[in-house]
Amino acid sequence: MTRIIMNGCGGHMGRVITELVESDKEAQIVAGVDIVTPPLAPYPVYSSVADVKEEADVIIDFSTPKILTKLIEEAQKRNIALVLCTTGYTKEQIAEIDEASKKTAIVRSANMSLGINVLIRLVQEAAKKLAAEGFDIEIVEKHHHFKKDAPSGTALAIADAINEALPEALPYVYDRSGRSEPRPQGEIGISAVRGGTIVGEHEILFCGTDEVITLSHMAYSKAIFGKGAVVAAKYVAGKGPGLYTMKDVIG
Ligand SMILES: NC(=O)c1ccc[n+]([C@@H]2O[C@H](COP(=O)([O-])OP(=O)(O)OC[C@H]3O[C@@H](n4cnc5c(N)ncnc54)[C@H](O)[C@@H]3O)[C@@H](O)[C@H]2O)c1
Repeated sequence: MTRIIMNGCGGHMGRVITELVESDKEAQIVAGVDIVTPPLAPYPVYSSVADVKEEADVIIDFSTPKILTKLIEEAQKRNIALVLCTTGYTKEQIAEIDEASKKTAIVRSANMSLGINVLIRLVQEAAKKLAAEGFDIEIVEKHHHFKKDAPSGTALAIADAINEALPEALPYVYDRSGRSEPRPQGEIGISAVRGGTIVGEHEILFCGTDEVITLSHMAYSKAIFGKGAVVAAKYVAGKGPGLYTMKDVIG
């Protein structure tokens, strides 16, 4: 049984995880932490992680980057693992996480979805073979009309992963308007579509002569991130110090 402290338990993701863990026989949320107490939480809720009295194996964090130092201190004091899912860390905070991982087992990922992380692995395999054969690579992502940033962080992470798999990194092209030339080889096109309530879609096209291979992922709800966080918590609980990624978690 993996005993979890849920930091940010009153937020969107905290509530998603609370629901997921309720039907999970191998995990239990022993305490929640939030500055706003959620109604009807099925566990004790504290306003600071330092006040939690219950014993735990791991802290899952979906809250704010502001609380990072406190979470690290608390994980080290209790000798338990950390699953950091919050986004928006500064370069200095990422260095702080690297340093902390010398003493503590930490999983950090800006995308906790198991599906996206498996997709990245498949895309890397395809890119290794197909880029060398001259296939053009295009990434198309689609999100709801409220999303402010474009392209999505996940589309960029997929492009970065493709470049990691290739002997030489390819440049990214976000906009072909105003270009009046055939598509050159050796670039990664990245396009963003915004509309309606689309939760998140990522499509990677490998376009060759007379054939196209498409790998794609569709998110239907944010529960996919919660599911990945719980799997990561089970994976990292009891592990030795180190910085683990979802690549390690999916094995
Ligand atoms: N890694 C991923 O796959 C992934 C997926 C979804 C969201 N996120 C990130 O997770 C974070 C939370 O997302 P969300 O949609 O649940 O946001 P949210 O705003 O719904 O929830 C955040 C919660 O954290 C609480 N909080 C604020 N300060 C706190 C503190 N000092 N201590 C404890 N709790 C505190 C808030 O009161 C709120 O209830 C964001 O950074 C988001 O970008 C990451």
